Amino acid sequence: MAKILCTGGAGFIGSTCAKRLLKEGDDIVIIDNFNSYYDPARKEKNVAEINELAEELGRSVSLVRGDIRDKECLRSIFRENDIDAVISWAAMAGVRPSIEDPELYVDVNINGLMNILEVMREFDKHKLVFISSSSVYGNNEKVPFSEKDRVDHPISPYAATKKAGELLCHTYHKLFNMDIHCLRYFTVFGPRQRPDLAIHKFTKLMCENKPIPMFGDGTTSRDYTYVDDIVDGTVRSLRYVLSHSDVYDIFNLGGSHPISLKDMIYVIGEELGVDPIIQQLPMQPGDVKRTYSDYSHAREVLGYEPQISFKEGIHRFIEWYKGGC
Ligand SMILES: NC(=O)c1ccc[n+]([C@@H]2O[C@H](COP(=O)([O-])OP(=O)(O)OC[C@H]3O[C@@H](n4cnc5c(N)ncnc54)[C@H](O)[C@@H]3O)[C@@H](O)[C@H]2O)c1
Repeated sequence: MAKILCTGGAGFIGSTCAKRLLKEGDDIVIIDNFNSYYDPARKEKNVAEINELAEELGRSVSLVRGDIRDKECLRSIFRENDIDAVISWAAMAGVRPSIEDPELYVDVNINGLMNILEVMREFDKHKLVFISSSSVYGNNEKVPFSEKDRVDHPISPYAATKKAGELLCHTYHKLFNMDIHCLRYFTVFGPRQRPDLAIHKFTKLMCENKPIPMFGDGTTSRDYTYVDDIVDGTVRSLRYVLSHSDVYDIFNLGGSHPISLKDMIYVIGEELGVDPIIQQLPMQPGDVKRTYSDYSHAREVLGYEPQISFKEGIHRFIEWYKGGC
């Protein structure tokens, strides 16, 4: 199989996908800086699970504790490993914190990606899956969101950096024949979810009988997508990029079933057997009103078809949460 560089492979989605790649017979190299955006102990736990699986399978994983902003570090990875493809998850990922510190988001998400593209070019490597986000759609009025819609009106620095990433990827495809897919993930949830994301945060608060801060009137909605479905779409994209040339494409990876904030809170409450105490607060700047994916392009080209319903996904998340995360 292939040797895949997973940037941000210690995080929520990267670590889940890294395990899937190992099971499919790929070799993986992870670069992650274990930053403290949330408790790095969670990332250590993710990596421990990856190592455990690798041992079970009789395989090895290389872990580089480094930063994608450090070009020399990236060079040393390519010098020491014959990398077939890169999946680029490493990023500052929160919408609201990007308003507090936009320069950090530009530095990691744009300059860090530039380093990856440049070092790939230096080492004559051509295959990249870049992880973008549904946030590039901003407050798109038309639903569901299609890759054909214009995405010129981001409403957070985070969204702007993801759009910039897609543009850089296109430029490197055109100039240096790189084969690239950009995947627009729609709110991902499931076991190992980041603790700063609403489902995880609300579950914790409900378990502690604390009020749930609900921003807005509860009618904002998100197209929640279960992490295994996202991983499936990502691996399909990787295989496509590895086996085709002259590729540049953008795909929505979503579930096409938006759930309102209020319903999300009630589904969690139901699963926990708790009556949620809701504290209504004003809408937060940077938050979009809704996300809703049209994933027909991913279905047609990649055969992507999400399998896990929101309720089932919440059930699985809470099982994981109750098991001590
Ligand atoms: N979780 C979602 O709902 C969602 C939705 C859309 C897009 N995404 C994108 O998916 C990717 C993964 O998100 P996640 O939810 O798993 O987040 P995460 O924070 O758990 O994972 C990101 C990982 O990247 C690492 N990282 C950050 N900056 C780095 C740097 N400079 N050098 C090396 N490593 C660095 C972090 O330590 C972390 O382990 C991100 O690019 C994010 O923007 C996530």
